[in-house]
Amino acid sequence: MKTTTELTKPIHYVLLIIFSFLLYVNKATTQQILHRGFSVTPDSSVLSFQSLLNDPTGNFSLGFLRVDRSQLSLAILHVPSSETIWLAKTSTSSIKWSKPTKLFFNGSLVLSDQHKKVIWSTQGNGDSVLLLNNSNLQIQSEKSSSSHSVLWQSFDFPSDTLIENQNFTVEMSLVSSNGLYSMRLGDDYLGLYTYFDQDSNQIYWKHRAMQAKAEIVEGQGPIYAQISLNGFLGMYQKEQAPVDVLPFDSFQRPINGIRRLRLESDGNIKAYYWNGLKWITDFTAISDVCELPNSCGSYGLCRPGKGCQCLDNKTEYQTGECFSPESGDLCREKQMINKGYWILRRKGVELPYKELMAFEKMGTLDECEGTCEKNCSCWGALFNNVSGYCYFVDYPINSLVSVGDENKLGFFKVRRVAEKKRNVGYAIGVGLLVGALVIFVGFALFGIYTIWRRKQRMNCRFMEDGVSPGPYSDLGSSSFRSIELCKS
Ligand SMILES: *[C@@H]1O[C@H](CO)[C@@H](O)[C@H](O)[C@H]1NC(C)=O
Ligand SMILES: *[C@@H]1O[C@H](CO)[C@@H](O)[C@H](O)[C@H]1NC(C)=O
Ligand SMILES: *[C@@H]1O[C@H](CO)[C@@H](O)[C@H](O)[C@H]1NC(C)=O
Ligand SMILES: *[C@@H]1O[C@H](CO)[C@@H](O)[C@H](O)[C@H]1NC(C)=O
Ligand SMILES: *[C@@H]1O[C@H](CO)[C@@H](O)[C@H](O)[C@H]1NC(C)=O
Ligand SMILES: *[C@@H]1O[C@H](CO)[C@@H](O)[C@H](O)[C@H]1NC(C)=O
Ligand SMILES: *[C@@H]1O[C@H](CO)[C@@H](O)[C@H](O)[C@H]1NC(C)=O
Repeated sequence: MKTTTELTKPIHYVLLIIFSFLLYVNKATTQQILHRGFSVTPDSSVLSFQSLLNDPTGNFSLGFLRVDRSQLSLAILHVPSSETIWLAKTSTSSIKWSKPTKLFFNGSLVLSDQHKKVIWSTQGNGDSVLLLNNSNLQIQSEKSSSSHSVLWQSFDFPSDTLIENQNFTVEMSLVSSNGLYSMRLGDDYLGLYTYFDQDSNQIYWKHRAMQAKAEIVEGQGPIYAQISLNGFLGMYQKEQAPVDVLPFDSFQRPINGIRRLRLESDGNIKAYYWNGLKWITDFTAISDVCELPNSCGSYGLCRPGKGCQCLDNKTEYQTGECFSPESGDLCREKQMINKGYWILRRKGVELPYKELMAFEKMGTLDECEGTCEKNCSCWGALFNNVSGYCYFVDYPINSLVSVGDENKLGFFKVRRVAEKKRNVGYAIGVGLLVGALVIFVGFALFGIYTIWRRKQRMNCRFMEDGVSPGPYSDLGSSSFRSIELCKS
């Protein structure tokens, strides 16, 4: 007698072979080089990441990354941690994870959507696409058999991450994944900025080059930044000596794994290294939470060591924001002056990055507040009753920091949108209810009417001799007559 396991053994073998084959196919499809003519569409069976091109170590992979279940982005991942290192800056953010979306290489790497529209593309006319072991994606041309020239590289178009040895120049910017913050280089400093719209942004962190090892020489070109293998973020004008060294925790300590720096979605910059198992945080630019540009959301108040609160004492703090800032400026509502907003005042508050803000010296609080009140592009003002410094906030109010000093006075405009919204919601609700009621009553009346009519007709039919109830089409003139009869 054979047992069931013995009977199914051959099936096991077959399954194992099929499985191995699938694995092999899967591995084989992830190439290490792409040639002209390469073309790929998203695979509907892939749940998170469809690998298209690997680096020689297999640590990094370029592929389609699923976003919100049905959409994708073209990304480079650090495979062991699934950390996104790079994203293609496509012209649209909604790219369908479906067949019409296509990535192909015809000399340029091109991503096109369902309407065959190009939504992202590299420049140049190259021969091959390679992913280097430091996650740099390159398009190379084979000039001669020995020399390759790089026509395009992802290192020149960073998203929110910088990798060791990647050059960060004045033409580039890191942008946080939520699009709210950016990192850029100035003439002699590295800065972090909050985006409000195209023309308004606010610097909230600035690191000036110390110029200890080398000086910045005018006319010798702009500075650039680079993460050094020796554990620091260096600013350079020339390769030989840095004009600034921003040390990490592992400064001058050799690390086996790769280093990276990221502009986080809370506006901080952090550096990490890979220890073979996980990413170790090695540097944090802003260590005090309250010093972050928007730690407690719009009109939030950060109390050092005590968490968040709302600027007014009435609104209970819920993560996110206390009052909706709503996009657009107060100037667009000229007809609503003094009605478009209300005024909120709070003592003992200041801006987290006030050292980086311009101020005007004013005699009195009234003068400071009045100037802001009259100017529709002013959202708020902070006045120091001792120094007389007045800071104007010309963008929607973010978080403030609570300070013990009662001489630091805050004046803020709060839009009246929240109420309006609720009213609109209320109106819609009432409208729907009334609509439903009308429909319900209508149906009820119709029902009653049909029953009444059926009864009436039955009565008529009984009244009329010779006309038997039949199909509708047969009723014709006779039924008409019967109705006439009933009416009379
Ligand atoms: C590659 O295809 C794109 C989009 O169709 C096109 O604009 C581009 O000119 C092509 N590049 C080359 C080198 O053929
Ligand atoms: C990465 O590639 C460079 C040169 O291409 C090589 O020197 C280096 O050892 C490689 N690193 C790893 C971790 O494979
Ligand atoms: C970074 O810049 C230096 C100096 O300009 C250059 O030698 C180096 O090749 C650049 N590195 C990359 C990855 O582009
Ligand atoms: C890359 O892979 C090699 C072995 O293939 C490993 O030793 C190294 O730690 C990996 N590096 C990263 C950054 O994952
Ligand atoms: C909120 O309470 C604090 C302390 O209890 C007080 O100093 C402040 O004036 C109050 N603010 C408002 C807007 O009522
Ligand atoms: C209003 O404020 C903006 C931004 O602070 C400033 O540029 C502008 O000059 C001010 N306008 C007046 C009339 O004061
Ligand atoms: C500002 O300071 C003056 C003089 O020191 C004081 O009289 C006034 O009450 C202060 N104003 C506020 C709002 O604290």
